[in-house]
Amino acid sequence: MQHIKQYVDEHRQRLLDELFALLRFPSVSADPKYKTDVLHTADYVAQKLRDAGADNVEICQTAGYPIVYGEKIIDAGKPTVLVYGHYDVQPADPLELWKTPPFEPTIRDGKIYARGACDDKGQFYMHVKAFELMMQTDTLPCNIKFMIEGEEEVGSSNLAIFVKANKEKLKADVVLISDTSMISMEHPSLETGLRGLSYLEVEVTGPNRDLHSGVYGGAVANPITILTKMIASLHDENNHITIPGFYDSVIELTPAERTALNNAPYDEAEYKSDLDVAELWGEKGYTTFERTGTRPTLEVNGIWGGYIGEGAKTVLPSKAHAKISMRLVPNQTSDAITEIFTKHFLSIAPANIKVKVTPHHGGEPAVTPTDSIAYRAAQKAISESFGKEPIPTRGGGSIPIVALFEAELGLKTVLMGFGLDSDALHSPNEKYDIFNYYKGIETIPLFHKYFAELSL
Ligand code: BES
Ligand code: MN
Ligand code: MN
Repeated sequence: MQHIKQYVDEHRQRLLDELFALLRFPSVSADPKYKTDVLHTADYVAQKLRDAGADNVEICQTAGYPIVYGEKIIDAGKPTVLVYGHYDVQPADPLELWKTPPFEPTIRDGKIYARGACDDKGQFYMHVKAFELMMQTDTLPCNIKFMIEGEEEVGSSNLAIFVKANKEKLKADVVLISDTSMISMEHPSLETGLRGLSYLEVEVTGPNRDLHSGVYGGAVANPITILTKMIASLHDENNHITIPGFYDSVIELTPAERTALNNAPYDEAEYKSDLDVAELWGEKGYTTFERTGTRPTLEVNGIWGGYIGEGAKTVLPSKAHAKISMRLVPNQTSDAITEIFTKHFLSIAPANIKVKVTPHHGGEPAVTPTDSIAYRAAQKAISESFGKEPIPTRGGGSIPIVALFEAELGLKTVLMGFGLDSDALHSPNEKYDIFNYYKGIETIPLFHKYFAELSL
């Protein structure tokens, strides 16, 4: 442990400067306008892996953005850890809500503000620097492979193809990912599950053209009114989802599992005040942890139609649209949920409009074992660096590739995230605490150490 602290102390400023350089690339995978920036980010990551001491560093081309691969095989008889992360980020808009520009990382109050600071540049880069530390101090105890992709925020569809085609190259004993949250620095935790996702877009068409809302209004159905009613009907008075069959395959937690989950510290007053909401909302009969970690949900991510420009225009629009996502829990599958949503949504459409449902990306839920050597190694690493046992939690977010690693490579994952839910992922003013960044760099070598030791 001493050599770890000493290395981080000696290189403190450089470790931060390099992360800042990474954060300055606007690697927004969703927007083609940033194509060259995304490609340059991959080059930077590859160079940093080489500098840290990785061999066979490659920029693997795909039909989309490349995957950066690198490895250090010290001994074929030793266990191998596959580190996964993503160098792409979410779009930064709405830009006007950022206190400082999203791609000019700025420190305020000990926190780094930038798009990707926590999700996932700040987190995956801890692994690159922890690897450098182990190489420089001659303490790498196992083999390590890096796979850092550039399309996580748009569904990882090309990574799925890459994984299927490169099973030998990706052979490992466990996948290690830092792309999730902890409860707090005082209450370190390890996520033991991720939700799946089914994402769709709906389009409702009324009349064949926009109409004068005075001349026709009152006689022709307004697609916005119809769409909002259809959407509102998807939850009942208990905030239960009304799609027939939606919950059929959901595995209910046992009373013991529920108790364990709700044992984690939770301050509802603080949760509400952080978000400035007077009351929480959710499925009746479940706690906040259960609602976000173990129950499926349906959200409207965006809705539009008609006139949204300056001033007033009297119009009865021809079309209305919405983007709807459902978070899925173990045993639900993305394709099946997409199918029953589509069937249901078409069935509730009145005859005065036409509905089109277009599926976007999806992903399967995942649970990670808590009785594995790798999980124990993560527990020991966190206990040692935080001075506290980590609390197991269920994350609400999705990393669809985790289920694929298990299905295609037979690999289980350890989710050793160092972010906080309040780090404003995907929001304006995303941040990552400098403390968490260094803490991660110090904890990761301990994971490798214990994983190698426990694997003997
Ligand atoms: N890192 C997040 C997922 C996450 C965040 C998991 C916090 C647990 C806690 C990841 O980058 C992400 O945003 N995933 C997307 C899904 C993807 C298919 C766009 C998500 O969860 O919306
Ligand atoms: Mn992420
Ligand atoms: Mn994300």
